[in-house]
Amino acid sequence: MILLINFKTYPSATGKNAIKLAKICKEISRKTKTKIVVAAQIADIHNISKIISTVSQHVDYFDQGRYTGYVLPEAVKANGAIGSLINHSEHKLSLDAVKKTIERCKKLKLKTIVCAASLKEVKKIKEFKPDYIAYEVPELIATGVSISKVKASSVKKFVKLLKGTKIVPLVGAGVSTGNDVKAALKLGCKGVLVASAITKAKDPRKVVLEMCSQA
Ligand code: G3P
Repeated sequence: MILLINFKTYPSATGKNAIKLAKICKEISRKTKTKIVVAAQIADIHNISKIISTVSQHVDYFDQGRYTGYVLPEAVKANGAIGSLINHSEHKLSLDAVKKTIERCKKLKLKTIVCAASLKEVKKIKEFKPDYIAYEVPELIATGVSISKVKASSVKKFVKLLKGTKIVPLVGAGVSTGNDVKAALKLGCKGVLVASAITKAKDPRKVVLEMCSQA
């Protein structure tokens, strides 16, 4: 089971707080032997990647050179990232940009975790052969209402869409408890993406431990 924790831009997961939370995640990953990956803000990747497997929350597909203010795959790789989220619903890309970004990351052997907001989008994105597809229904994000509970039949269809491919199915949006994780795994997913249940928790250690105990 893979637990991908998206730090987003939550204050509890930024700068020194990101380091503190990453250390908690690493400790629990070791204790439970669960693979935890953190999606850190660009500015935190260098520090967080020294603690735990880290991916960027986005990268731009442009070539290196005369671009200002963009973040290229080479830069996140040079700072320790092992991959990147692509097309998160909070940082949406065109289909053409998704394709180009996957190609750029593949050339650098960066793992590609592409987010899809609908089964229709899953069908299009799977053609680009990313390493992972994370099915996340935007309207459930940060609600605490888990996609693995209220969209179980869609999640089952999602898993079926990836059968016979090498693409690993992940789900996210509203995943908040160990039971939500268990339900996702039962539906055939290989892991979950979680943000607010951990970044906004009074006791993140307790939440991460509960989720990892479902593996
Ligand atoms: O990338 C995962 C994220 O969008 C899910 O958010 O707060 O519902 O766990 P949340």
